Amino acid sequence: MSEVRGRVFNGMRPTGKLHLGNYLGSVINMVELQDDYECYFGIVDWHALTTGYEDTSELQENIFDVAIDWLSAGIDPEKSVILVQSNVKEHVELHLLLSMITPLPWVERVPTYKEQLKQLEGRNIATYGFLGYPVLMAADILVYKADTVPVGEDQLPHLEIAREIARRFNFLYEREVFPEPQAKLTQFPLLPGIDGRKMSKSYGNEIRMSDSPADIRAKVAQMVTDPARIRKTDPGHPDVCVPYQFYKAFSAATHESVAEECRSAGIGCVACKKRLADVITERMAPVHERRQELLARPDYVYDILHEGAQRASQVAAQTLADARAAMNLRDF
Ligand code: TRP
Repeated sequence: MSEVRGRVFNGMRPTGKLHLGNYLGSVINMVELQDDYECYFGIVDWHALTTGYEDTSELQENIFDVAIDWLSAGIDPEKSVILVQSNVKEHVELHLLLSMITPLPWVERVPTYKEQLKQLEGRNIATYGFLGYPVLMAADILVYKADTVPVGEDQLPHLEIAREIARRFNFLYEREVFPEPQAKLTQFPLLPGIDGRKMSKSYGNEIRMSDSPADIRAKVAQMVTDPARIRKTDPGHPDVCVPYQFYKAFSAATHESVAEECRSAGIGCVACKKRLADVITERMAPVHERRQELLARPDYVYDILHEGAQRASQVAAQTLADARAAMNLRDF
């Protein structure tokens, strides 16, 4: 960290093992940010509770899975602070303080709010906690005075609220306690799932970061290809082919030549998929290797989370001191 550009916070809800879409769309980006920014990466278990409070039986397993996925991808506890949100209690206090100054319409008008209420109809999320989701997210970011937040497009409305809350706080209490966090959009073409829809756990069409070479091969074999290509001698159309999207994402060096072989019917789908499975397996090999090492030492992983929470708390406590002072709260 020679020339640190600023401070990053990124949060991920622990809802299960990460897939290759998460890996390419987010985790790799986090790994790269580590060298230029002071990074705080939070496994946001309270956010998971906003929609999943009824059944918490898998929460700890899910937190561990995210930690392993991050660490095996190269998120480095020497460079970055890795924390479990509920271990850093300062998030709660700031969330409460920010909730005082957040006008109700700001949270009610978030596009995802009403949508999610409808979408997750089976679960009762007409709760106080779920309404406060964006305020909690603002607290996550502002408690570290982070100025940069790497997010996908879907999170922009949330980030906008965080910015508005920061601005409102600074305005009300007449001091610049919080920087306005900026989004750093992660530009990555969405990776389709093996069935061609968006890769998502809820569709069951994902390839996980942790999938073994055999799993990868089996899933790649199921990928949807050009429906117009019935015989191997038919020329294919890579642009409508799921494996080709993966070639583009995983093999910048060969995807053009593969497309050419496909268009000229020089390679059949079965061979093409075998080759793709090898490409993905090879790319994930260092991640898998590291994963095996980590799985053999769970206590080491828990130590990282423990230490991360402590380091995070130190910074967060300083912010709370500033915020409390600005609001005229006092410790006796
Ligand atoms: N809402 C984010 C998501 O679903 C997770 C999140 C919580 C987050 N707190 C954050 C992301 C702070 C960035 C910064 O995916």
